Amino acid sequence: MERKRILSGMRPTGKLHLGNLHGALMNWKELQKDYQCFFFIADWHALTTEYKEPKAIHEYILDMVIDWMSVGLDPEVSTFFLQSAVKEHAELHLILSMITPLSWLERNPTYKEQQQELENKEIGTYGFIGYPVLQAADIMMYKAHAVPVGIDQAPHVELTREIARRFNFLYGEVFPVPDTLLTETSKLTGLDGRKMSKSYNNAVFLDDSIEEIRHKLSQMVTDPQRARRQDPGNPEVCILFPFHKIYSPQERIDEIERECPRAGIGCVDCKKWLIEKVLDALKPIKEKREYWTQRLPEVRSILKAGNDRARTFALNTMEEVRQVIGF
Ligand code: TRP
Ligand code: SF4
Repeated sequence: MERKRILSGMRPTGKLHLGNLHGALMNWKELQKDYQCFFFIADWHALTTEYKEPKAIHEYILDMVIDWMSVGLDPEVSTFFLQSAVKEHAELHLILSMITPLSWLERNPTYKEQQQELENKEIGTYGFIGYPVLQAADIMMYKAHAVPVGIDQAPHVELTREIARRFNFLYGEVFPVPDTLLTETSKLTGLDGRKMSKSYNNAVFLDDSIEEIRHKLSQMVTDPQRARRQDPGNPEVCILFPFHKIYSPQERIDEIERECPRAGIGCVDCKKWLIEKVLDALKPIKEKREYWTQRLPEVRSILKAGNDRARTFALNTMEEVRQVIGF
């Protein structure tokens, strides 16, 4: 039996950090086992907000492929591609734009939020309000059955479902109506306790050096109530503890839960244990990054092979689309 297909993408607007790793990427890695996967770099989507500095987008593209491979996504198993290398996305976007009521886009919650949040970026553009239509084209092009995304992207998949239904109603059953596979958001916060994000300057990046990672983690704030060694602490409010839950063995986690609230262990030790575990876990990833960074031509050809595979699929879909519309 043919495996179900999923598709997901990331905008190349910055380096990947531990939040991305334990949010999207580990989830994608698991999904590789059960689904036929298309993972792509949404450079046209990046252009919607970064159109004034488009050159920066290109710096992140190969880096993103390297990060994906370094954490265990396998380009032999999944198809990696670059959105702008498959021009059919633009054609499908255009066609879908004809059947998408403006009111669906205007009530999109992420549209309103982002307009306010990114007001310095002047995104009152045609492309920006059409962002979810392009996303629908990405998803529908590969006839995806499901789309793994974080909660912030769920409204976009919902819109895709509506657009797919409308297309099928108007022209015939061409597209599956894709399910949302909600990715659990990363439990890891940034070093200061806020959401880990490159714009808050509180993230540990996959390409940080060992020394940088050590330094950054050593700056993390622990339970603020625990000013002195003899004060009892509370792992549930300490931002270190979620990191232990990911990186430390169960005995250590149990020990912290037992000893921290009765001041049986100190934060300095607790942090030392953590740093070693994080470094252990990141070492193989960093080694693979190193390996691929020295082989950029090979990375380029891996992406190119993925582009070709994606394009073949896309060409088939577009033939069908043109046919049912009568073009
Ligand atoms: N909008 C997504 C994000 O910002 C990226 C994206 C573009 C995407 N097209 C997609 C995600 C299709 C899933 C499916 O994260
Ligand atoms: Fe946090 Fe560990 Fe200190 Fe407890 S002992 S407050 S878990 S750093």
